[in-house]
Amino acid sequence: MVETLRISSTRIKESRLASTDFSNIPFGKVFTDHMFMADYRAGEWKNLRIIPYGNMPTSPATPALHYGQSIFEGMKAYPSANGKEALVFRPLENWKRMNVSAERMCMPHIPEDLFMESLAALIDLDRGWIPTEEGSSLYIRPFMFSADEFIGIRPSLDFTFMIILSPVGPYYSTPVKVKIETHYTRAVEGGTGYAKAGGNYGGAIYPAKLAQDQGYHQLIWTDGKTHEYVEESGTMNLMFVIDNVLVTPGLSDSILAGITRKSVLELAQHWGMPVEERRISVIELVEALEQGRVQEAFGAGTAATIAHIELIGHEGKNYSLPPIDQRLFANKVLTELENIKRGKSPDPFEWIYRI
Ligand code: COI
Repeated sequence: MVETLRISSTRIKESRLASTDFSNIPFGKVFTDHMFMADYRAGEWKNLRIIPYGNMPTSPATPALHYGQSIFEGMKAYPSANGKEALVFRPLENWKRMNVSAERMCMPHIPEDLFMESLAALIDLDRGWIPTEEGSSLYIRPFMFSADEFIGIRPSLDFTFMIILSPVGPYYSTPVKVKIETHYTRAVEGGTGYAKAGGNYGGAIYPAKLAQDQGYHQLIWTDGKTHEYVEESGTMNLMFVIDNVLVTPGLSDSILAGITRKSVLELAQHWGMPVEERRISVIELVEALEQGRVQEAFGAGTAATIAHIELIGHEGKNYSLPPIDQRLFANKVLTELENIKRGKSPDPFEWIYRI
C-alpha cells in the first residue's frame, strides 16, 4: 500500500526483542517494542504516531473507565515462507467490524486508510517480533476508547485509537470442556452482543469463573430471553457437525460476526460440505448428544482459530464427544486455515494481506 497518511515515528532506545524468550510464549503477556496511537479531536483523527510501547497518561474521568465506552478487534499476522513478509489474515474484515462496533457504541468511524496504514507501519517496524514457532503468531489488537474528561453520560467527543502487538502461543493448550449456561447471559436482543465492545467480555468473566470452579473451561452461552437456544462459546462462535452437516447459530444482534466463523463457513461451502446457519435449541443439541449424533463441536475465533470441545455439560450431566483424531472436518479446516495464513496453501479467496 502506498502511504498517504503522515504517521510520526519515535523509536524505542533499546529493543526488548533479544531478551524475549519465544520458545514458550504465553497468550497476551508479551508486547512488542512499539504501539500506534491517534487522537480524535474536533471531529478529526489527528496526531497519528508510533511510539515506544508503554503506559500512557489517561484522565481518571475518562468514560472508557467508568462506562465501558471501549471497543476492540483481534487479528493475527504470520511470517511468510521466506520470512520476508508479514501475512495478515483478513484485516479489512476487522476494519469493517470495528466500524460496526463504533456505530453501536456512539464512537467515530475509522477510515480505511487510517486503519490499514497504521497497521502496516506498525507491523513493518516491529516485524522482527513475528514468531516463527509452530502454533505461534503475532496477535494484533486495535482498540478505541472514549477520551473525554467528563463523567456525565453523553456521546463522547474525544477518542483514542490504538494498536498494540503481542507475539502469542496457542490460546488453549488442550481441548475444552464447556457447560451450557442457562442462567447468566452474555448478550441480549437489542444489546451490544454483535459489537466487539469491552463490556461484553467483562460481564462474561464471572459466569465463566463459576463454570471454571466446577471443572469446565468455558460456557456455551444461550439466548438472553429464553435460554433455549445456544449462541456462542466462551469468546468464540460455536459450531457442530451433526449428521455430517456443519451447523452454527445464525447471526443475530446477540452474536458476534466472527471472521474465523465466516472463513470456516466459506471453506466448508467451497469443499461442498452441507452448512446450516440457524437457531439450535438446547433440546435439539442434548438429544443429538444423547443419540451420539454430534460428531464434532468446536469454537471458532481469532485467538484460538479452532478450539475442539471434548465435553459438554448440561444440568449436571456431562456428554463426552468423539476423540479429537476423529474430527475430520475441524482438523481439516484448522490445517487449511493455518496453511493459508502461513502462505503454505494457495489463497483462493484473497484473504491474506502482505506487509
Ligand atoms: C477471539 O478469539 O477472537 C477473541 O476475541 C478472544 C480475545 C477476547 C482474547
